[in-house]
Amino acid sequence: MAGKIALVTGAAAGIGRAIALRLAEEGASLVIVDIDAGGLAGTEQQIKADGGTVQAITADVTEEAPVKALFQSALAAHGRIDILVNDVGGGQSGHIWEAKVEDWDFIMRLNLRSAFLCTRAAAAHMRERRSGRIVNLSSGAREGTPWTAYYMGNSAYAAAKAAIHGFTRNVALELAEYGVTVNAVAPGPIETERTGPGFRKIEHLEYGPIRATPLRRIGVPADIANAVLYLASDEANYITGTTLAVAGGR
Ligand SMILES: NC(=O)c1ccc[n+]([C@@H]2O[C@H](COP(=O)([O-])OP(=O)(O)OC[C@H]3O[C@@H](n4cnc5c(N)ncnc54)[C@H](O)[C@@H]3O)[C@@H](O)[C@H]2O)c1
Repeated sequence: MAGKIALVTGAAAGIGRAIALRLAEEGASLVIVDIDAGGLAGTEQQIKADGGTVQAITADVTEEAPVKALFQSALAAHGRIDILVNDVGGGQSGHIWEAKVEDWDFIMRLNLRSAFLCTRAAAAHMRERRSGRIVNLSSGAREGTPWTAYYMGNSAYAAAKAAIHGFTRNVALELAEYGVTVNAVAPGPIETERTGPGFRKIEHLEYGPIRATPLRRIGVPADIANAVLYLASDEANYITGTTLAVAGGR
């Protein structure tokens, strides 16, 4: 990773923060992006304290103008972007029989529009340079997550994360001849500040996440960061269009 410029969205917390810290630890210069300026400053401080190089940009990556400005600013500062990690995502839509249309639209924007806008901006640049790595965050939910479905519903999130797989595959085919690889990581249950309390509420229940996960534990953000690091590295240069499950065997 030494000398590489990596842009990570959703880097103020959870998995995105862990990805940013892991890439920085391996020597990449980071451009970290989030809508949460306070959390982003925390990640920025941690990277600097560890001796890394970082540019923090507060932006809403579901909107076209901020994404354009964000890439302009990153390219002005570094001259190129080698790696894009589309981490922003999430959302809750309840059971299908009562799901609200606003929640459906919000989840599509948060997970898909963000990945589309950032990938489009990065692709234009990487295609010209004939080099680059894009890693998207899908989810085990792309095929339905038993505990989420049973206790919470959330089919909009499952639909969005399945769409990330199709998007990843298609963009990989579009960019292959330009030497740009596009892959996704599909995490299983990963404990973050946001998800931890929810997992604890259901872990003892019949369809709880630990019982349903063959490796019998909730994952940690570093499990995902390591997979992203690999897909973003030179060692993965013959891998494109793949969604890698990092889900404890589920
Ligand atoms: N945690 C899990 O168990 C799990 C499992 C499967 C997939 N994932 C996926 O991994 C990714 C990260 O998950 P997490 O649990 O770390 O989430 P998180 O909610 O902890 O972090 C998401 C980050 O995105 C930022 N964000 C939200 N909206 C934004 C916007 N419009 N513009 C810019 N930034 C915005 C948030 O401020 C936050 O810092 C998501 O795509 C999620 O769907 C997580």
